[in-house]
Amino acid sequence: MTLEISFIFGGLSTEYDGSVTSFANILSSYLALPRAERPFSVRHLYHISRVDGLVRTIPFNSISTIADLEPYISETSTIPGRTLLSTFEAIESRNEYVVNLLHGQFGEDGGIQTLAVISGVAGSFGDPHVASLTMNKYAMSAFVSSLFPAEMVRVPKTTLITPRNVDQSINIAMSLGRPFVVKPNSLGSSLFTQLFYDPPSSEQEIDTLLRAIFTHDTAAVLQEFIPGDEYTCGCLISSSEIIPLPIVKLEANNDFCGRDQKYSSNVAKKTVVNVNDDISRRVQNITTSIASSIDLYNMARFDFRVSADEEIWFLECNYVPGTAKDGSFEKMLHSYGMTVVDLVSWITSNSKTFKKPDHYIMYDRL
Ligand SMILES: Nc1ncnc2c1ncn2[C@@H]1O[C@H](COP(=O)(O)OP(=O)(O)O)[C@@H](O)[C@H]1O
Ligand SMILES: [Mg+2]
Repeated sequence: MTLEISFIFGGLSTEYDGSVTSFANILSSYLALPRAERPFSVRHLYHISRVDGLVRTIPFNSISTIADLEPYISETSTIPGRTLLSTFEAIESRNEYVVNLLHGQFGEDGGIQTLAVISGVAGSFGDPHVASLTMNKYAMSAFVSSLFPAEMVRVPKTTLITPRNVDQSINIAMSLGRPFVVKPNSLGSSLFTQLFYDPPSSEQEIDTLLRAIFTHDTAAVLQEFIPGDEYTCGCLISSSEIIPLPIVKLEANNDFCGRDQKYSSNVAKKTVVNVNDDISRRVQNITTSIASSIDLYNMARFDFRVSADEEIWFLECNYVPGTAKDGSFEKMLHSYGMTVVDLVSWITSNSKTFKKPDHYIMYDRL
């Protein structure tokens, strides 16, 4: 029987555009394949509008080019939408398997994962608790540093800042006397991420940045700046093994991948590193070790810095890595011999689906 898959994308997060770009690459790669070579069939596309939060269900048979999505995803779409809850009920009743391409808030933080568990929708959602751990940069850093020795992987000194402890945390940070990075605790795409070389001279700027972060996130982190090179490593997670992908090196201006280096014409150069290189092997081992320590499903991507003394520093885990054209995850996949379409096919055939453990205990039968 041919595999039949649906996709959900868009969303209510600051990473809406990233989600659309991830999906667009999968869709255009899929449409470019002759029908006989398509490894799965597509049933529905579910777009969550960032304007009204409603879902427009797109029957796949009405799509032959990317442009055909426009009437459904346009901000002024006149096609009626449904609530996410009622859409999930309908998806469940049709027994569809859904690939989750929602990034950021409610896509990677346990939100949509919880809804999938409650409504019984099958798909690539995974464990809600693990999603929320990985999305929380502070908690995930603490987890990695408590699990692994510093000789294997280091974690930059990190302070959690909430609207309640801003002044106190900033005072402590200023007294460190070294450059630091301020970033949101759980947004992505380098949004509101800034490096301060000389924090005392930027006090006002830091304060303004924190206020901007708090309008979108409940906390920010202030993290020691790790000069050096930047690497990212993805992995595929099946029910029996974790396959680390070739690692990608990111080269940005002034050693830092801010938003500008991720999305503008000033974009960071991304190159796949030779798999036999020592850093490459160590980064892949760390990736495999972290991924084996939490109950991840399908895929993930980890970001690292490597300092001049070749110490490896953990930055973050991306629970739903972007699959945009020429993005780092796509480059890793290509180097491994896979396209984004192969990735979807691999996930649906090899990875396990999260099953909610039984919560009710029959004490009298124990
Ligand atoms: N402690 C740090 N030291 C050096 N660079 C950092 C540090 N934290 C973040 N960066 C830079 O900011 C970018 C974004 O940070 P990251 O933690 O990966 O969050 P996200 O990708 O979710 O926005 C990184 O790719 C890196 O270039
Ligand atoms: Mg990152």
